[in-house]
Amino acid sequence: MRIVILESAESVSQRAADLFCDQLKRNPNSVLGLATGGTPVATYRELLRRYDQNQVSFEHATTFNLDEYVGLEPAHEQSYRSFMNRELFESVDIDLAQTHFPATLGDLTEAGQRYEASLVEAGGIDLQLLGIGTDGHIAFNEPGSSLASRTRPKALTQRTRMDNARFFDSLESVPKLSMTMGIGTILDAKQILLIATGQNKSKVCRKFIEGPVTALVPASALQMHPRVTVLLDEEAAQDLERADYYREVEAIQSSLENQNT
Ligand code: PGA
Repeated sequence: MRIVILESAESVSQRAADLFCDQLKRNPNSVLGLATGGTPVATYRELLRRYDQNQVSFEHATTFNLDEYVGLEPAHEQSYRSFMNRELFESVDIDLAQTHFPATLGDLTEAGQRYEASLVEAGGIDLQLLGIGTDGHIAFNEPGSSLASRTRPKALTQRTRMDNARFFDSLESVPKLSMTMGIGTILDAKQILLIATGQNKSKVCRKFIEGPVTALVPASALQMHPRVTVLLDEEAAQDLERADYYREVEAIQSSLENQNT
């Protein structure tokens, strides 16, 4: 894992946007894996800013979101479809028909299989954006999820529901069930970018980066993937034991990259 510690949350969103812009420049037909939650909002704003300056286009991109709440209408303001329309899709040149979410109606097991099939049909995800829950979840793969799991229904932990209650009127209105890509699905992405900011993520960042690979910390499965970048601000990085080493490696890595450009 490439661990990059940046001075601020703003630098995290700028660096994350750099990776998306580079990906789209290399391949305008890229398949992007997108995430929701509080953390990616700043990255989407940065992408919008660059779009407005003609620095990036989504015209030929395809997107797959990680997850969706079960039980909310797509038009509900807290559905992840609404979130993505509001935060990004409505303001850029993306073709909405090329933006995908797991279905949340009907037979959910079959809906998961259909999502997996459409991912394969699209050629797989080129760059997957992830946040991390304070309980270590990636997408809605809560602790205990199989590290080989595929898209399926998954019940939310009380902790996740409490974390997300800030977006709803009350804890009771937060859905109890989601449809989510599995950990195995996420690990199939060609490249993964996890972003985490703020002190409330520092303990879980230490666990998934420096602890053992365990289903109890789903993000630790990323240790098994060959191409993961983790962007952290100073606050999220404050509990890392080997922060100095990551900074040294990063300084060497970026000087090598600068020589090559
Ligand atoms: P947050 O959520 O960005 O709102 O903290 C992250 C996540 O649950 O993946």
